[in-house]
Amino acid sequence: MLTALTPQAPDKILALMAAFKQDTRADKIDLGVGVYKDATGLTPVMRAVKAAERQLVETQDTKVYTGLAGDPAFADALSTLVLGEDRPRDRLAAVATPGGTGAIRQGLELIRMAAPEATVWLSNPTWPNHPAIIDYLGMPSSSYRYFDTATGGVDFDGMMSDLEGVAPGDAVILHGCCHNPTGANLTLDQWGEVAALLERRGAVPFIDIAYQGFGDGVEADAAGTRAMIAAVPEAIIAASCSKNFGIYRERTGLLMAAAPSAERLAVTQGAMATLNRLNFSFPPDHGARVVTMILTDDALRADWLAELEDVRLGMLTLREALAAALRDRVGSDRFGFLAAHRGMFSRLGASPEQVEAMRRDHGVYMVGDSRMNIAGLNERTVPMLADAIVAAGV
Ligand code: LMR
Repeated sequence: MLTALTPQAPDKILALMAAFKQDTRADKIDLGVGVYKDATGLTPVMRAVKAAERQLVETQDTKVYTGLAGDPAFADALSTLVLGEDRPRDRLAAVATPGGTGAIRQGLELIRMAAPEATVWLSNPTWPNHPAIIDYLGMPSSSYRYFDTATGGVDFDGMMSDLEGVAPGDAVILHGCCHNPTGANLTLDQWGEVAALLERRGAVPFIDIAYQGFGDGVEADAAGTRAMIAAVPEAIIAASCSKNFGIYRERTGLLMAAAPSAERLAVTQGAMATLNRLNFSFPPDHGARVVTMILTDDALRADWLAELEDVRLGMLTLREALAAALRDRVGSDRFGFLAAHRGMFSRLGASPEQVEAMRRDHGVYMVGDSRMNIAGLNERTVPMLADAIVAAGV
């Protein structure tokens, strides 16, 4: 039976991780996978996470199963972080999932369970695992314009014009903040316009929010998502704690669904719990418990917010340094968009050949579509990258 298996195309981001590891050059620069790194190249365990874990070791007296939806305290704490105190509690279903990818997968399965014919719309470009999962699940999909390569900003007219094509009951995946891979984001007014369009067309937003706190701040990064939830009768949200709590390997995520009415809450919650049971039974608990402890303890929460803010400001400084280094070299503000982008990523706008040349000649590793992880830089490597970009003729 297993002889029938055919080789699977490797995930581009993960393949790049492996290629970087194999490169023996000392001066290589890793701008690939979306993992935060400090100036020394480390992905640290955040202070509040360490403190909560210590407490947990001392106080946890059982590791018996929680529930299919995970601990309700986690759903409560994380849904408040994402959606705010004003979230529609009486119709908000939520289940813990193995990471943000788990939430995406479960959200897509929820859509397929409810409406197998629904088309799932994706920004062009988007995180490659979105279309990969959708195709694997055999769901119809379509894409909407998103990125304007000429300006490095959002092609909002193109986006709105393409979204006019959504049918009632279709789902539209939106990046809550820090768009992956481009770094170009909607303004709050534009969120309002997209919300009005989806509401008018009867389509359901599916918001992937994996970088809250990495863009303009924890509250500002959630503003678009909150505006959307306030404007539409139904919505699905996949939240990840991997990046903003730095707990990548703990696989901590939450799938939320705003049901159309309080009467539909129990059925929606039940469907999501059933999908958990079918796919993995009980969701992982360690990361979720640590996040709950941090969010519900004033001192831990303040320390986490302070460290997250340092991370965010550090990435902003690197963006500005890179834009300035390129301004010096090319004599124009052609790369000014790098400072305007938010989050971990920016799409540089280099061709695959230029990306390859930077890798071959300078040991610079970015994803083939020229997505750069800004957190992979430091003061020393910013000028090296700027030189490589200019030498490649970008
Ligand atoms: C990324 O886009 O690099 C991250 O979300 C990590 C991943 O799993 O791809």
